[in-house]
Amino acid sequence: MARCAIFASGGGSNFQSLIDKKKEGKLTVDLSVLIVNNSGAGAVKRAEDNDIPVLHCAPSHFETEAAYTRQLDEHLKKFDVEYIALAGYMKKLPSEIVARFRNRIMNIHPGLLPAFGGKGMYGSRVHKAVLEFGAKISGITIHFVDEEYDHGPVIFQDTVPVKDDDTPDTLAARVLKLEHASYWKVVDAVCNKRVKVEGRRVFGTI
Ligand code: GRF
Repeated sequence: MARCAIFASGGGSNFQSLIDKKKEGKLTVDLSVLIVNNSGAGAVKRAEDNDIPVLHCAPSHFETEAAYTRQLDEHLKKFDVEYIALAGYMKKLPSEIVARFRNRIMNIHPGLLPAFGGKGMYGSRVHKAVLEFGAKISGITIHFVDEEYDHGPVIFQDTVPVKDDDTPDTLAARVLKLEHASYWKVVDAVCNKRVKVEGRRVFGTI
């Protein structure tokens, strides 16, 4: 089974949805290790409850970016990681790691890229921007990670309606539900090599 590391910084509900689908036998990927940059992340307990090893590795622990990169790389090698799924991970991955795992690192964004993305566009900021712009649909984008924020090849997108009485919170809840229904399918398809990448275009059935 392909070995996938999960990176998270927060509550980890997307991580939990991967754990749940794995338990149901629908996700056929080994969730090999959880890497967090913040030991207080809710995702840590979810890993512990499910016997998934946890590593705490933050750029601030190191004097240089190179030392951080080296440590991260060692962790990934130690667990024979082949794929990475970012699940609410708030740090930019070092470019060496991005290059080594080209088209093998996935991220989920709670909006329809290329709108409402980029540095600083995360969490409720995305939903607030969608509402302020007056968009009638929002949704999710699952993409490969490249050297720019929210920029790599798009693997999967799906939409939700924006309702007249939405607040950032109600919209976030609708989008999050879609995230949970979708991320595992993409992780399964990518890790089981059912998608093919040609330039920015990703082909394959999710
Ligand atoms: C999700 O909205 C995801 O799209 C974004 O970060 C959030 C993480 O939520 N990348 P959770 O920690 O998985 O609950």
